[in-house]
Amino acid sequence: MQKVTLKKAVFPVAGLGTRFLPATKAQPKEMLPVVDKPLIQYAVEEAYAAGIRHMIFVTGRNKRAIEDHFDTAYELETELEAAGKQKLLELVRSMNPGDMDFSYVRQPRSLGLGHAVLCAEHLVGNEPFAVLLADDLMVGSPPVLAQMAARFAELQQSVLAVQEVPAEHTRRYGIVAGESVSPQLIKVRAMVEKPAPEVAPSRMGVAGRYILTPAVFRHIRSQPTGVGGEIQLTDGIAGLMAEEGVYAYQYEGKRYDCGSKEGFLEATVELALQHPEVGEHFRHYLKNLQVL
Ligand code: UTP
Repeated sequence: MQKVTLKKAVFPVAGLGTRFLPATKAQPKEMLPVVDKPLIQYAVEEAYAAGIRHMIFVTGRNKRAIEDHFDTAYELETELEAAGKQKLLELVRSMNPGDMDFSYVRQPRSLGLGHAVLCAEHLVGNEPFAVLLADDLMVGSPPVLAQMAARFAELQQSVLAVQEVPAEHTRRYGIVAGESVSPQLIKVRAMVEKPAPEVAPSRMGVAGRYILTPAVFRHIRSQPTGVGGEIQLTDGIAGLMAEEGVYAYQYEGKRYDCGSKEGFLEATVELALQHPEVGEHFRHYLKNLQVL
């Protein structure tokens, strides 16, 4: 069988972001910046590092900011050029190095992550694709999606990013269980959305990175809608498991849940400390901040 490579990534950015109101009233939460880059840019850079060149955004009401962010900023570039601000000009242009395609599709109502992924079906077509939830900021070396793409290249079957989570946090995740096939890889046999710790089949929680085969679309479509008309991606993946292998990959790296205020603040502090421009000053500032 000929091996397929991963060429497309889907970024669902149509959630309501209620945990971040009022910041998300007029912009998607994926545009919130950690230090100096919006969350969505970290995710696009991660997909690019995994060899993906076609970026597909599933947008909602406030789609403009994301489209503009990855588009040519003609006036800004002209002004920076006229002012001789070459470095800033390069920074602005580096957002789209010219070898990427961007597509946008609208999710008319926030009907759940599964529904958002389904909205991208006609753009993905009959090939495997990645799904990146930009509010999960992943820091890894190599980048987490590149680690997963390497597994996908061998397996040619769906790969989900997982991490061990504290027992008291199972309610926040899709939890997988199955048999270990190598130190970082589990063949998934069961997947439960947000179980209570007493009934969770393991402590392996799914993080916001997925590589999926196109058969998942059929399984998402065939799921009955859940509470509030929501269509869950987890249910679609559970359906897929009955037909194909689905693997959970325990990635190397760190995840920041930037959909929550706590996670967003942790990411901001830790990435600021590593930032080449402001890191040293910020470390000094924190040392002298006698708050505790
Ligand atoms: P969340 O579960 O974090 O929901 O979505 P949310 O609406 O964005 O945020 P809160 O909970 O109200 O604060 C996980 C990811 O799925 C996308 C979101 O944009 C986010 O990246 N999503 C969710 C959609 O694109 N459409 C949906 O209908 C639901």
